[in-house]
Amino acid sequence: MKKLLITGGAGFIGTNFVHHWVQNHPEDRVINLDALTYAGNLENLQGIDKSANYRFVHGDVCDQDLIRKLFHDEGITHVVHFAAESHVDRSITGPEAFITTNIHGTFTLLESARRAWGDDLEACRFLHVSTDEVYGSLMADAPAFSETTPFAPNSPYAASKASSDHLVRAYFHTYGMPVLTTNCSNNYGPYQFPEKLIPLVVMNSLEEKPLPVYGDGLNIRDWLHVDDHCRGIDRVLHAGRVGETYNIGGCNEWANIDIVRLICSTLDEMRPGDRPKSELITFVRDRPGHDQRYAIDANKIMTELGWSPEYTFETGIRQTVAWYLDNEAWWSRIRDGSYKEYYKQQYGA
Ligand code: NAD
Ligand code: TYD
Repeated sequence: MKKLLITGGAGFIGTNFVHHWVQNHPEDRVINLDALTYAGNLENLQGIDKSANYRFVHGDVCDQDLIRKLFHDEGITHVVHFAAESHVDRSITGPEAFITTNIHGTFTLLESARRAWGDDLEACRFLHVSTDEVYGSLMADAPAFSETTPFAPNSPYAASKASSDHLVRAYFHTYGMPVLTTNCSNNYGPYQFPEKLIPLVVMNSLEEKPLPVYGDGLNIRDWLHVDDHCRGIDRVLHAGRVGETYNIGGCNEWANIDIVRLICSTLDEMRPGDRPKSELITFVRDRPGHDQRYAIDANKIMTELGWSPEYTFETGIRQTVAWYLDNEAWWSRIRDGSYKEYYKQQYGA
């Protein structure tokens, strides 16, 4: 039986991972630690909170006393570390929280695990969930990021994640900590906070609001359904080689404008309106330092651990759009709160 400390389990990917783990490994104990920032939402975990093997703890990954107590009281054997400030645009307007949570929070967790686990490391694992953004930006014809691509982060978000990846690596080399790192491409799927491109476009379309596309819309991202990411993390946690990094991605590169058009046509079919949703597309001022292209070479996890994505982008987008159509109450509540203030600041009135 594993005793997992999942951090950030009330956010987008963490929520999906908690659901995945409780469903697939009911014998394990899951402690979900989340500070419930604007991005954390306990509504996502309704139902699960009744499971005997599940406990939610409201707290900060930077709170050393709390984390040490959790390791001690719960006998944590595995950490899956999602908690982070995760939105590039917010890191441009307010980088400090990114430095605190993403760097200091990861350090606090590593140090607490090191002290709690001592030399008894055989059955323990510390899996750090990171991003492909640490590798920087690719030219159109450059090969995809591999695990040996040098780090070249360009936003405060990417730099803070790169710093945390380096700390994790250092704890392996210096202390022999049983760490694993995953660097994943852009995720999409249920429960994603509507500041990110795909949910933002779905919801704005449904509310007949402009669909803001940065710059010329030709920036490229490599998209993966969140369920495929969760299955990848599960594989790495069970079978990954300690000290190794695994890139996770869908071999699924799309220009932003094409994704926005795909969502528009999917919605025209699933929720027809008076006019095509694509008429709402609005090109807006570009993001400062906007990375041109991300692409992941996922060969290592595919060949070594037998993982591969199950969703195609078309089926994944359909499932995701259907989820947002079925869960209007969920996103309406979010869009009524502090999100309004953020939206005004980011996109103007
Ligand atoms: P998210 O912003 O949706 O959720 C983050 C969660 O962390 C929230 O529940 C929030 O309350 C919690 N949190 C924030 N600060 C905290 C703190 N100090 N202490 C405890 N909890 C705190 O993020 P996400 O999109 O689910 O991303 C999760 C992880 O996956 C992040 O580490 C991110 O870098 C990484 N990642 C994300 C993507 C993506 O496309 N979203 C891709 C690759 C990697
Ligand atoms: P985002 O979902 O913020 O993820 P990331 O910046 O981590 O890749 O953005 C995905 C892409 O979509 C990115 O190139 C920026 C672009 N984008 C827009 O064009 N308009 C928007 O309103 C947002 C939020 C993003």
